[in-house]
Amino acid sequence: MKVLVVGQGGREHALVWKLSQSPSVSKVFCAPGNAGTAVDGVNVDIAATDIDGLIKFAKAESIDLTVVGPEAPLVVGIVDRFLEAGLRVFGPSRLAAELEGSKVFAKELLRQSTIPTAEAQVFNDAEAAEAYVADREEISLVIKADGLAAGKGVTVCTNKAMAFEAIRRIMRVKEFGEAGKRIIIEEKLDGEEASILALTDGSTIVPLETAQDHKAAFDDDQGPNTGGMGAYSPAPLITPAMMDQIIGQILVPTIHGMKKRNRPFKGVLYAGLMITNQGPKVLEFNTRFGDPEAQPLLIRLKSDLAKLLVAIADGKLDQVPPLEWDPRPAVCVVMASAGYPGEYQKGAPIRGLEEADKIPGVKVFHAGTELKNGQAVTNGGRVLGVTAIGDNIVEAKLRAYQAVKCIRWDGAWCRHDISDKARKYGDSTSPA
Ligand code: AMP
Ligand code: GLY
Repeated sequence: MKVLVVGQGGREHALVWKLSQSPSVSKVFCAPGNAGTAVDGVNVDIAATDIDGLIKFAKAESIDLTVVGPEAPLVVGIVDRFLEAGLRVFGPSRLAAELEGSKVFAKELLRQSTIPTAEAQVFNDAEAAEAYVADREEISLVIKADGLAAGKGVTVCTNKAMAFEAIRRIMRVKEFGEAGKRIIIEEKLDGEEASILALTDGSTIVPLETAQDHKAAFDDDQGPNTGGMGAYSPAPLITPAMMDQIIGQILVPTIHGMKKRNRPFKGVLYAGLMITNQGPKVLEFNTRFGDPEAQPLLIRLKSDLAKLLVAIADGKLDQVPPLEWDPRPAVCVVMASAGYPGEYQKGAPIRGLEEADKIPGVKVFHAGTELKNGQAVTNGGRVLGVTAIGDNIVEAKLRAYQAVKCIRWDGAWCRHDISDKARKYGDSTSPA
């Protein structure tokens, strides 16, 4: 079977790496890919949003399965186009991907299905939003652009001036263009966050192991939000009893709600949760694998990923045996370019990759990299996802940071506390 992975980040490298291990897979292409996917697969120079180009390639190469990594092509309907062209594809349709593409749509579904989430109001114009903020007694509010904003559309405000500024940037300056035509203002929830990902063909739901992202740029969750500076799995914060609650109160009603709306959801449903005093509440949905959550999850997955994704695309997830996981925890540390999540430079040669990969249990996933004359150079803000598995979370962390130490380029940096939150729960070697 020939597989095409669409995208170029750390998630896509992890997908290429894992899919290439499936006995049924003969070749894995990645479009456009990075310096890492060029080693574990074959890169194709087609952009992830060039749907015509991707369809042409998939037909010419007789691709048996296309796996879409990022949200942008999903939201514009890549899956619908592939299906129309008679090509097998893993991911949600345009209408189903709206669960990520429109926070207003997601909030309405959450409300109508009485799924626990933050109280929120939707606004179509800046004046009304500002008047609402001025009238509120609480000063902690969260302002969200409705549409896709590359992880930058959410501001957690700790005073009213911040809230007015966020409204100004989204609705008056139009920093996110059309994505900011509507906004949501919601109550700020307190607690610890967790990422729950589930595979579904629209009927059967198979939750993956738990994971936790680290969204803030700097240690101790300081600094601005990023796409994610590291992740680990499992997240011991989620007990088996809580997982049952999440399945029953969040995942099942969401998939059911989508079916009822004639938008059957196929692919990965990612629920970003806040574990509050009143239990888990939904912060957001994504309609794809998380990045960097995919890296520690896929290094732990023992089942044949290609078979699994084909079963979902074919609507036969009920026929797949239970997933098998390595019980050992995994940690992924993101190494970033100087300046990220603000402006950064590209093109710095990356040294020490082979040395890092030699450490037992370590796999260096590439994110923002490309090959220049055979040399891996930086090509993005989040450059690498250095991932390690270990007998316990301490060992996994130690190995990941040992590998980080081997790798050098000008301005490289990372957080130093990835996975520390897991430690307060004691030994986390047993899966949730
Ligand atoms: P989202 O894209 O909605 O997940 O928001 C990005 C990040 O903003 C989340 O991972 C949280 O850290 C934070 N966030 C979003 N909504 C809330 C909320 N209602 N209360 C507190 N933090 C939030
Ligand atoms: N790690 C968060 C995301 O993939 O959106």
